[in-house]
Amino acid sequence: MNNFEYCNPVNIVFGKGKIARIAELIPAGSKVMMTYGGGSIKKNGVYDQAKEALKGFDVVEFGGIEPNPQYSTLMKAVEIVKKENVTFLLSVGGGSTLDGTKFIAAASKYEGDEPWDILEKGAPVKDALPLADVITLPATGSEMNCLAVVSRKETTEKLAFGSPLVFPKFSIIDPTVTFTLPLRQVANGIADTFVHVIEQYVTHPQNTPLQDRQAEALLLALIDEAPKVFANPEDYDTRANIFWMATQALNGWLNVGTIQCWATHCIGHELTAQLGVDHGRSLALVLPGVWRHQRKEKGEKIVQLGRRVFKIDEPNFDKALDATIAATIKFFQSLGINATKKEYGVTDEIVKAIADLIDSRGVKFGDRRNIGGKEIVEILNLCD
Ligand code: NZQ
Ligand code: ZN
Repeated sequence: MNNFEYCNPVNIVFGKGKIARIAELIPAGSKVMMTYGGGSIKKNGVYDQAKEALKGFDVVEFGGIEPNPQYSTLMKAVEIVKKENVTFLLSVGGGSTLDGTKFIAAASKYEGDEPWDILEKGAPVKDALPLADVITLPATGSEMNCLAVVSRKETTEKLAFGSPLVFPKFSIIDPTVTFTLPLRQVANGIADTFVHVIEQYVTHPQNTPLQDRQAEALLLALIDEAPKVFANPEDYDTRANIFWMATQALNGWLNVGTIQCWATHCIGHELTAQLGVDHGRSLALVLPGVWRHQRKEKGEKIVQLGRRVFKIDEPNFDKALDATIAATIKFFQSLGINATKKEYGVTDEIVKAIADLIDSRGVKFGDRRNIGGKEIVEILNLCD
């Protein structure tokens, strides 16, 4: 196991009726910017609950943060933050609103000319406004991590940054707010959660028995709970369980001391940037291609997943590996996700454009850092 430094300071407030706790958790006297997305919170009562809890504060609102939050939109918020002397940010919405708010927090205090450099050039985040959230969609784990992904449609880019300064001060998870989620978003969130665990677990063997067992526990629980939410969408306990799984899947507990593989995410982000594919669906499309391509590098962990999680009782290694890929695709299909390149318009030209872009950035993906433009073409040719 590698050396690590680990700290996750996020205060989780979980359960029915917890949005009201905002009132006590935000420091008294704060000038608050409440950020939100395209309006779902106005339809399901979350906006009203948040406004009620914010009654004692001076509040400015910033709505309209898109799914896959856009840099140009977030920079408008930064302007308002500066003009209005905002001292605290409260994100009320899904992972996109929260990621966007993390970026607003960092960009508002950024001293260089172009805050995009935080994403593109890894410019250090030296200061950030404090932020917190009411998270309304179980998927990203953003409520308990210090990561954010921001898109820029002008340049078809979608890039991530992370900084301990953008850990939420608190995150409120009220599972009842997920009752209004379209089932498509529920499925996307479960696929995202699944792949978050996978990209920390299906690497090369690293002698990390505890992290492996934690990942397997999460996957087993997720596979058990997922069908229940579609069979009975009104069941509170299932909603609560799924939310807690999503939060834990990317809160840093599974990957302490390990080398991770984020190839599926990185390629998926490019498909979203180019074609607007939903994040969860992009992952369901790409993951089987990554595994088919990386059979040698990842074979041992793929088969471990198959035997321990999907209960594949096949002594032959290669057959067990293929059966695990098939079981994974079947799991995505059970969510209603039949991810094909054709459906999303992934043409040879798009594949080439993505490969060229990755090569121009000089980056390599994967736990072995062996996936560049050429390999991305091969991987996407192995999808569906
Ligand atoms: O915008 P509104 O109107 O709020 O509607 C949203 C949006 O249309 C809607 N929604 C959210 N909560 C709802 C709801 N509708 C009804 N009832 C509710 N309770 O759902 C739609 C999707 O929302 P979005 O926030 O985009 O989804 P998600 O939470 O999946 O976030 C996706 C973004 O997170 C990034 C993705 O790349 C993508 O940009 N990720 C962030 C990560 C992180 N910070 O750690 C890791 C992930 O791998 C991921 O990359
Ligand atoms: Zn994800």
